[in-house]
Amino acid sequence: MTAIFDTHAHYDDEAFDRDREELLCSLPKQGIARVVNVGASLDSCKRTIELMDRYDYIYGAIGIHPSDTAELTEAGVEWLRQQCGHEKCVAVGEIGLDYYWDEPERKIQKNWFVRQLDLARQVKKPVIIHSREAAKDTADILTAEHAGEIGGVIHCYSYTKESAKVYLDMDFYFGIGGVLTFKNAKKLKEAVEYIPLDHIVLETDCPYLAPEPNRGKRNSSLNLPYVVSALAELKGLDEEEVRRVTWDNALKLYRMEA
Ligand code: NI
Repeated sequence: MTAIFDTHAHYDDEAFDRDREELLCSLPKQGIARVVNVGASLDSCKRTIELMDRYDYIYGAIGIHPSDTAELTEAGVEWLRQQCGHEKCVAVGEIGLDYYWDEPERKIQKNWFVRQLDLARQVKKPVIIHSREAAKDTADILTAEHAGEIGGVIHCYSYTKESAKVYLDMDFYFGIGGVLTFKNAKKLKEAVEYIPLDHIVLETDCPYLAPEPNRGKRNSSLNLPYVVSALAELKGLDEEEVRRVTWDNALKLYRMEA
């Protein structure tokens, strides 16, 4: 059976303080062969670096989440640039727009989104995009910045099938996780039916968004087989094919060797 690649996790979160070491050590034995831990604030980027230094199957993404951009400065971007030089940093992220929380003000979010896209271009790494209730501005900015040349993934994809076309045209990947197993995820299921499997990667966004039957509990990469099942059923494929294709997609997205 092909192993699973969790392309988006937050194992630096305090939700894992109790048993982080034990849980992370158990992942490879349970078929989770690679994880990208994603930074969201300057602090979580530091913790991400500690994790990738400690576990050989953990890689990292360095970037500031839109909700944390109020703390960002030019000196901060310079620090991010230096961390992107780490041999296990595979992406800039997560970056983007969040109009659900709508903090800090949109102008500030947009400014640092564009600035970090520019950083990704300079350091030649793909981007991990966080976009919540900001479909139009995200698509407009990515188009204006020619993000197709940068490459990346729309993490926790939550928009329509119609919006998916814009990102497919840029050759972006789509991060799909626990939400796919939710009964009320009709819009997402329609989008995932439309998106070709060769543009889908698996992600947890843990500790958040645990799939059924563990919805509401702390999430971890160990729940990804439930997402594989849901994806296989929706696409009418066997689970092994979903594992194999999404593994290859993750390597292509993050430009990693097998
Ligand atoms: Ni995340």
